[in-house]
Amino acid sequence: MNSSELRQTFLDFFESKQHKIESSAPMVIKDDPTLMFTNAGMNQFKDIFLGNSPIKYNRIANSQKCLRVSGKHNDLEEVGHDTYHHTMFEMLGNWSFGDYFKKEAIDWAWELLVDVLKLPTDRLYASVFEGSEEDNMKRDDEAAAYWEKHLPTDHIINGNKKDNFWEMGDVGPCGPCSEIHIDLRSEDERKRIAGRDLINMDHPQVVEIWNLVFMQFNRKADGSLEALPHQHVDTGMGFERLCMAMQNKQSNYDTDVFQPIIQAIAKMSGKTYGENEEVDIALRVIADHIRTISFAITDSQLPSNNKAGYVIRRILRRAVRYGYTFLDLKEPFMYRLVEVLIEVMGKHFPELIKQRELIEKVVKEEENSFLRTLANGIKLLDQIIEKTKADDFKVVQGEVAFELYDTYGFPLDLTELILKENDLVVNRREFNEAMETQKNRSRSATAMETGDWIEILKDDKEEFVGYDYLSTDVKITRYRKMNIKGKDLFQLVFNITPFYGESGGQVGDTGYIEANGEKISIVDTKKETGLIIHITNELPSDPTCTFKAVVNAGKRELIANNHTATHLLHAALREVLGDHVEQKGSLVNPDHLRFDFSHFQKLSEEEIAKVEEIVNHKIRENAVTEIKNNIPMQQAVDLGAMALFGEKYGDLVRVVKLNESVELCGGTHVKATGQIGLFKITSEGAISAGVRRIEAITAVKAEKYINDKLNTLKEIERTFKSSQNLLKNIEALISENSEMKKGLEAFEKAQLKLVKNALKSEISETKGVNFISKKMNVKSAGDIKDIAFLLKTEVENLVFIAGADLDGKANLTIMFSDNLVKEYDLNAGAIVREAAKEIKGGGGGQAFFASAGGKDPQGIDAAISTAKKMILHKIEG
Ligand code: SER
Repeated sequence: MNSSELRQTFLDFFESKQHKIESSAPMVIKDDPTLMFTNAGMNQFKDIFLGNSPIKYNRIANSQKCLRVSGKHNDLEEVGHDTYHHTMFEMLGNWSFGDYFKKEAIDWAWELLVDVLKLPTDRLYASVFEGSEEDNMKRDDEAAAYWEKHLPTDHIINGNKKDNFWEMGDVGPCGPCSEIHIDLRSEDERKRIAGRDLINMDHPQVVEIWNLVFMQFNRKADGSLEALPHQHVDTGMGFERLCMAMQNKQSNYDTDVFQPIIQAIAKMSGKTYGENEEVDIALRVIADHIRTISFAITDSQLPSNNKAGYVIRRILRRAVRYGYTFLDLKEPFMYRLVEVLIEVMGKHFPELIKQRELIEKVVKEEENSFLRTLANGIKLLDQIIEKTKADDFKVVQGEVAFELYDTYGFPLDLTELILKENDLVVNRREFNEAMETQKNRSRSATAMETGDWIEILKDDKEEFVGYDYLSTDVKITRYRKMNIKGKDLFQLVFNITPFYGESGGQVGDTGYIEANGEKISIVDTKKETGLIIHITNELPSDPTCTFKAVVNAGKRELIANNHTATHLLHAALREVLGDHVEQKGSLVNPDHLRFDFSHFQKLSEEEIAKVEEIVNHKIRENAVTEIKNNIPMQQAVDLGAMALFGEKYGDLVRVVKLNESVELCGGTHVKATGQIGLFKITSEGAISAGVRRIEAITAVKAEKYINDKLNTLKEIERTFKSSQNLLKNIEALISENSEMKKGLEAFEKAQLKLVKNALKSEISETKGVNFISKKMNVKSAGDIKDIAFLLKTEVENLVFIAGADLDGKANLTIMFSDNLVKEYDLNAGAIVREAAKEIKGGGGGQAFFASAGGKDPQGIDAAISTAKKMILHKIEG
């Protein structure tokens, strides 16, 4: 069975068990401060497990794109070195939300694996939670009893808390789990060692394929467990491992999910998979990482310098580095793999096909820039090697290796490899210390402590009324204390709220709550796990009373202007540039709007003007914003809504429509576009290959911007005492100015000639040497130099010593004819240095010409005479 058929069989099976089939949620998570990437299929359902969001379907199944490269679940370093870990993988999952529990989860898993997929039962094992004293929990006898119906008891094993109690993170929903393992070894090997002894022992052919989690608890910040409002099932099956089992392979990388990619890289590099371990690791690393990077880009997460973008950048660099070091790939190559990735996965994940050009451009650009960094790092390393050898040392300082790691992306093993070829080693202890120091630094920079929620009002669901109201009476249902980088903050949740929580690029509302004469500022509003969280610097003295909650209306209005203008901008860009324009990110705040979109070249002045014109025309039309709340997704698409890949929408969506602009959006908007007043683009530029950014302003901000420009213009008119032919006048002024400059330069040259001629008449001769020494009245050191060089061409056997007071600073210049330098062993540099002591300064230069500057113009005469004496001394012997 090939991988596509296998995925479909899983989905069909659970559909036949009344599960709703969902598509994958984005792999990159945008609105959850506790998680950067989807690391398990259950992430998108966290709110439901916690009881913060209502259950829409009791049963769901899907194939979820997951990424385990940060936080509690991080497999990055294993990837490539073994044959069954991945950064990105697909997790096949079935869910029960307060519906079926252990029995059905176990029975159906068995039915699918054994009856449908025909996996051999004697190779299957199941583990159950052995219990934990720490959490005061007993063995999961219930799950064991269900397994006993299918498996002999020696195929059921007990597992500890690490393996058989699943937790999403340090806090959050969790529960005991039952894992299904498969033993794929040969008959002989299985006879030698029983499969049960190799479970959870990191054996590449005895692997876990499916985890059935029985979600029952919420882990709190203080470490205790509290029961969830309902019992749920969360299962996750490693798709790539299932493919390995079904296709009788020894490694995930031997399946049809990876082989086409591996073969493509092998062909590019002229290597063969399966001949050399180092080469194989590199091939696996690259085949794995190109998936992660490509899918991240389709989720609008471009490689960048911080947070999730930085993780993606590092993964890309890891792949490039393996290619560079072990496959001799010194030119960009990753981007050429997108084509084969699409062949393998494009059918089930059409976002890859749709965004192919963008993925290729972004990856290629990243590769190029990293290869440049790598080349610079290698240059630096060469210098270090040279110096270490010259000093006769054998050990390179750990800090140096760390700098290579930190700045140039050189991991220690690459540095060590290059050093080894030169018989050098790194001081590892120092390297580790430098690494530890940096980790501590970043840990304290992001240090955040979150307390547990304190419930005041139970069972109250939070309702958002901010589309219609800016003020309402509220009660606090729960609150908790946070400490971010040493500062205490409070997060409050209300039963009903007019405050918009930051999401969809729109910043959160601010305002205040007030009761009994006490007014507390809401400094920000965020969204987290289905809750709207109001942030304050202090806690009300009585959190249980009823408060009047008031949103800062002025700010909200400015935000609405910018948000609606963003939609108009998006539509105008598509009209002017084409349908390939897709939103890649946005920020809407009261001051301005920022819109990132796919497009491959700079916008011309005309295009920018056209876009502005269209948006302003729409504003003047005063189009009424039509909002459709809670309509089915299909209806929204029929209305023309653009559903963006990489966004997760529920079945019921909110649509914001302004004539031809139709967008899925939860933000707050103007009632009619006229309110926006004016739209002005203030900047346009690239943020990465294939993605451009426009910043713009509206309403009063735009008005002020235009007025400031007009005022400058008025000032100019005032200066010209006319508003007629302004441009012509300015051009005339510029050209007149440049003519005058030319005239002045010619005049100054002529002046210099006069000075030079005057100097020539002051020559005094000693032993056939022509001396000119003089304190001069000139404007710059350049003038003296020019005169010196003119004299040199016209006077033979010349010694020229000049001093000058240049705006309170002393200057001393010495020039010799070349023949004198040789004949009398003269060195202008040495003489000027000595003589400059008289002007309290220093200088230098060549043997025939040198100059010095000094603080004391009073000493110029003395300096000239010192220089002259030194020269005479040489000449006269
Ligand atoms: N949440 C569990 C896991 O990730 C099962 O889906 O393994």
